[in-house]
Amino acid sequence: MSTFELIDELEAGELSIEFEGEEPQTLLEWGLRTFENIAISTSFQADSVALIDMAYEIDPGVKVFSVDTGRLPQETLDLADRLRDRYPGLNLEIVEPDAREVAAMVGKHGEDLFYNAVDLRLLCCNVRKVRPLTKHLHGLDAWITGLRRDQWASRTNIRKVEIDHDHGAIVKLNPLAEWTEDEVWDYIRERDVPYHSLYDQGYTSIGCGPCTRAIQPGAAARSGRWWWESGAPKECGIHCSIESGGLEHELHALIGDHTA
Ligand code: ADX
Ligand code: SF4
Repeated sequence: MSTFELIDELEAGELSIEFEGEEPQTLLEWGLRTFENIAISTSFQADSVALIDMAYEIDPGVKVFSVDTGRLPQETLDLADRLRDRYPGLNLEIVEPDAREVAAMVGKHGEDLFYNAVDLRLLCCNVRKVRPLTKHLHGLDAWITGLRRDQWASRTNIRKVEIDHDHGAIVKLNPLAEWTEDEVWDYIRERDVPYHSLYDQGYTSIGCGPCTRAIQPGAAARSGRWWWESGAPKECGIHCSIESGGLEHELHALIGDHTA
């Protein structure tokens, strides 16, 4: 039996305190032992490949999934292949957005709608990433992310064990929450883990091709994401629900009432 129903907000808080100061592998081992339906969500960034390496060592059958938005850079798809070579039998599932929703959005607003307004960018993130990810999470008891507290102001308070109220109150584990960027890279180098080739071209945070660029040395790590926007959250909505009247209106117009 899965034990996820047994973990409430209070217990998640207690577990977070218990795992604070512990290595990421300790939380991973606990998660993989405790939940029947648990998977790593991967963006193929540095945090994600470090987690895959750790988890594969604990359980080579560990489930890993990634949402392919259809706008990923070729380098991301190449890295997926390199990971499959490095970790034989890697249980990697590629999740795709609903083709009809994408077609409706592109038909109405164009392929590169995200450059025109923040609401349209959020709409694109929603259709291409948030909705497919949310749908995939419905089948899980728990998911594992590569979130770290030092990534951006919106992430400073993340805990290692959370109840994810945006996704059916399943458990969300953030084993790397207290690691720094340097610790992630030390791990990758020590273990010679395959990593995204765009990091060698000045990128520090990597998402979809048209929405990510390299940054100047010293700039904030996520400043290369949606760089043309000012005052908007450097988030796509998978880690926090983003309230926006315009977004809700557009979603409703495109896909009716089924916006969950
Ligand atoms: S995002 O919200 O801006 O896109 P970010 O790229 O920082 O998130 O990644 C944080 C974590 O979110 C990753 O470590 C991974 O767990 C999850 N994640 C991000 N993008 C994807 C994706 N395309 N598919 C699956 N998980 C993802
Ligand atoms: Fe669309 Fe850009 Fe969001 Fe990717 S990052 S889903 S292309 S808006």
